[in-house]
Amino acid sequence: MRFQDNWSPATLVATRDLAPGIREFILRPDGYACAPYPVGSHIKVSVFIAGQADVRSYSLVGEADPRGYRIAVRFAEDSRGGSRYLWSLQPGARLDVTSPTSLLQVDWQRQHYCLVAGGIGITPLVGAAQALMRKTPNVALHYAVRSRGDAAYLDELSPLLGDRLAVYAADQAQRLDLAGLFAGLPAGTAVLFCGPMRMLDAARAAWAACGRASSDLNYETFGSSGRLATEPFKVRLRGSGEEIIVPRDRSMLDVLNAAGHEVMADCRRGECGVCAIDVVAVEGEIDHRDVFFSEEQKHDNRKLCACVSRAHGVVTIDTLERADAL
Ligand code: FES
Repeated sequence: MRFQDNWSPATLVATRDLAPGIREFILRPDGYACAPYPVGSHIKVSVFIAGQADVRSYSLVGEADPRGYRIAVRFAEDSRGGSRYLWSLQPGARLDVTSPTSLLQVDWQRQHYCLVAGGIGITPLVGAAQALMRKTPNVALHYAVRSRGDAAYLDELSPLLGDRLAVYAADQAQRLDLAGLFAGLPAGTAVLFCGPMRMLDAARAAWAACGRASSDLNYETFGSSGRLATEPFKVRLRGSGEEIIVPRDRSMLDVLNAAGHEVMADCRRGECGVCAIDVVAVEGEIDHRDVFFSEEQKHDNRKLCACVSRAHGVVTIDTLERADAL
């Protein structure tokens, strides 16, 4: 497990609007050496929100680019402020970035790969498609968007995948039928999924209903996507009874750390579980936005990932030491 990030100062060298509300940013660290990175890699980026330094994590788009690290950011009104900050930047802006890291496990020995993206979830799958297509032609990408104009990176994906790229535009009544898709996959197909939490829930249910091995469904989601609307909520500390408000534009992790309670973190994307906190009681509802805990664990509500998960109401948590049984 990593705890140490390797930060470098970087320059925003270019931006490009990919679709309404989706902008690409190319971030070039000082002394950048264009080196390959694993499929599914992401970087952390320093941001300023309401005058406070903060960190956001973004998937790298495509394989290593000689111009710098490529990320794409959807402008999200309902976000914690990271997208608003990045969208305010012009080329030449300076910021800090980490080296790429990946938690995604790809089994390179498979004969068939199925990639499934929802919305901005296309970002990590561009590089996955490029890398996998060098290995086998048996790669298909299914990409669900609200409208075809919202689909990013078709200029790169169409020539790469040809008719193995399928785009489903909801406004044209083109639904991605996950159950039908999964049922028709050859045995042993590995699926890489990235999309919003609701779509991930549907994908996991469809995958299980097909009787496929859960380890063959690899997925990521993004911490800004939950089942409940993003609202302020209250955290109560057992013992001291201290109560802390988590505003809608900050994470529970950041608020607890700012209040002097040291909560460890690593990925800040709900993937590694390092920030897991023991939950004692819930008055209201927890909105688990991580992909670390199983559905059963989320249902139990005994732990939550403070970097991405939120709540409606009041969550009472245990001592702020790292949960010992991850
Ligand atoms: S820091 Fe990795 S899940 Fe929260």
